[in-house]
Amino acid sequence: MSDLRRRFPALCAEPKLSYLDSATTALVPDVVLEAVAEQLAHGGSAGRSVHTLGTRASEAYAAARRAVAEHLGGQADELVFVRSATEGLNLVAEGWARPRVGPGDEVCVSAAEHHSNLLPWRRVCERLGARVVVAACDANGELDLVDLRHKLSARTRVLAVNHVSNVTGAETPIAEVAELLARSDARQAALVVDGAQAVPHRAVNVANLGCDFYVFSGHKAYGPAGCSGVWARSLRWRQTQPLLVGGGMVTAVLPERVEHIDGPQRFEAGTPNVAGAVGLARALAFVDQHRNPEREQALLAMADNALAQLPGVRVLGRPKRRTGVLSFVVKDIHAHDAGSVLDSHGVAVRAGHHCAQPLLRHFGVKQAVRISVGLYTTAADIERFLSALASVRSTLGGGTGSR
Ligand SMILES: Cc1ncc(COP(=O)(O)O)c(C=O)c1O
Repeated sequence: MSDLRRRFPALCAEPKLSYLDSATTALVPDVVLEAVAEQLAHGGSAGRSVHTLGTRASEAYAAARRAVAEHLGGQADELVFVRSATEGLNLVAEGWARPRVGPGDEVCVSAAEHHSNLLPWRRVCERLGARVVVAACDANGELDLVDLRHKLSARTRVLAVNHVSNVTGAETPIAEVAELLARSDARQAALVVDGAQAVPHRAVNVANLGCDFYVFSGHKAYGPAGCSGVWARSLRWRQTQPLLVGGGMVTAVLPERVEHIDGPQRFEAGTPNVAGAVGLARALAFVDQHRNPEREQALLAMADNALAQLPGVRVLGRPKRRTGVLSFVVKDIHAHDAGSVLDSHGVAVRAGHHCAQPLLRHFGVKQAVRISVGLYTTAADIERFLSALASVRSTLGGGTGSR
């Protein structure tokens, strides 16, 4: 076992496991587990108590916020902690967009969005008499920039796109999209980026992307579940309403009005997840230290090349640059059946609609198998997957004939 794999207790406990499901949730390295345990052992809650434990917890939480913001190229007061990317996208939709969207307005999304970057926009539009407009993807699942240009108009209030697709691994050229938006009639619209599948694999610098909101998921980036983040400039945050109200987000509650904290805490009502934030900061430092996108791409290319040789196997999209994931279907075999047989061979994959039904429909399928790679994935994992797939085909009898 390599030194890096040894850093993941889940792999030490299951040394024969080929975990190809990091895009659902990544395994957690020892340093993150230690950071979380240490913070829990220290005790105390952030932003509340003046005693020593409370003060230390507040300092740890503030330091985690600085570190996470810095990782994204932002400032501490621009970073709000949320439970998940889903919560973050709902915060932007309900808190920023809802007060700004009216009848006849439009929210533009791509055809490749995860349900978490689609349903919040659909709900806002349904409630306000606005509509969701969908920019097309091409045969490889890449955003069609020509179609996008046509879909933007003076009525567009928000353009919401992923940074990396959780089905095809296609990257959206965010800086180019931001420029296109700035030159269009929709230049007043906010650009919201779902970075859930990008942050685990590539360096992200919000200053270079030109987006308004950048949302990401902590548990896909080797952090503990329950702590993720949303970045936006302070001006945008000042325009945003909190999703939750309650303790920890106000400076004064008077009979006639409430005065809110001017800062990220305004969006973090309730006792903060200090251990989660500390764990997330540690996870992102670990990613910085070990990230190797070229290696990950080579592993996916290895799988892709082998799958291309198999009759009856169809890979969904071959983007110019594939990040993190690869999805495919096997003729006459349901993805869940394939997933179960692969699991019996010690290969963990995701099977189903991947919470991206519009994109699967675009490819003309209802379900697919997805493999995804992470810091710990090796060529041996891909080889084991390919030989287990041969068993899927012989056990379940599908996969012959045309694609
Ligand atoms: C592209 C994308 N966006 C959003 C999400 C939702 O992330 P979370 O589990 O943090 O809510 C996912 C999760 O699979 C995803 O892949």
